[in-house]
Amino acid sequence: MFACGAVYADGPPAAASMSAPASASGSGNSGKYGIGKPIDNAALARWNIDVSPDGHGLPAGSGTVAAGAHVFAAKCAMCHGKGGEGGIGDPLVGGAGTLTSATPKKTVGSYWPYATTLFDYIRRAMPYNAPESLSADEVYSVSAWLLYMNGIVPEHTTLDAKTLPRVRMPNREGFIPDPRPGAL
Ligand code: HEC
Repeated sequence: MFACGAVYADGPPAAASMSAPASASGSGNSGKYGIGKPIDNAALARWNIDVSPDGHGLPAGSGTVAAGAHVFAAKCAMCHGKGGEGGIGDPLVGGAGTLTSATPKKTVGSYWPYATTLFDYIRRAMPYNAPESLSADEVYSVSAWLLYMNGIVPEHTTLDAKTLPRVRMPNREGFIPDPRPGAL
């Protein structure tokens, strides 16, 4: 899955990543070299936001398709197109049934195996120009809107930590382990 390497290997925001080595070194090396400081829990919490496919790590909050339409129009459409059809950012809507065709179109709807990792990706990486700026409610909402636009959830859907993991993505079974040694 493309997201594995690109997303989960991604480090924390700059400030947190700068303090991480100090904690990794154990006792803190500020005495010897005068650099680094132990990472505190607040900085760690900001970095530690991964959501697993099974929904582990999803935050409190909720969002609706209707609210998501507003978030998308205000904060995403300029790059991904009004209806998520793509622009300077990837297409996020459409492509259903094209993966096995000669011209596969990979989108959130056609390609992504989990709705939970969609939440994770948007929360940590989008908007591209202001990552981690969305509230949990906004991420739930815009995820709901994208799933609705892809025909995966009905219009009156509310998503939260309980309901999001239950969303079944069309390409859920489309990924297979890669047996090549050293392959991701
Ligand atoms: C300034 C332009 C810009 C804005 C604004 C923006 N995006 Fe993106 N988005 C991108 C780019 C560029 C990529 C590809 C990033 C990459 O591959 O590293 C992307 C990738 C994505 C992907 C992954 C698509 C895929 O299948 O690979 C999702 C999902 C996404 N954006 C959702 C959103 C949402 C939701 C918002 C609004 C909250 C948003 N984006 C706002 C530019 C933008």
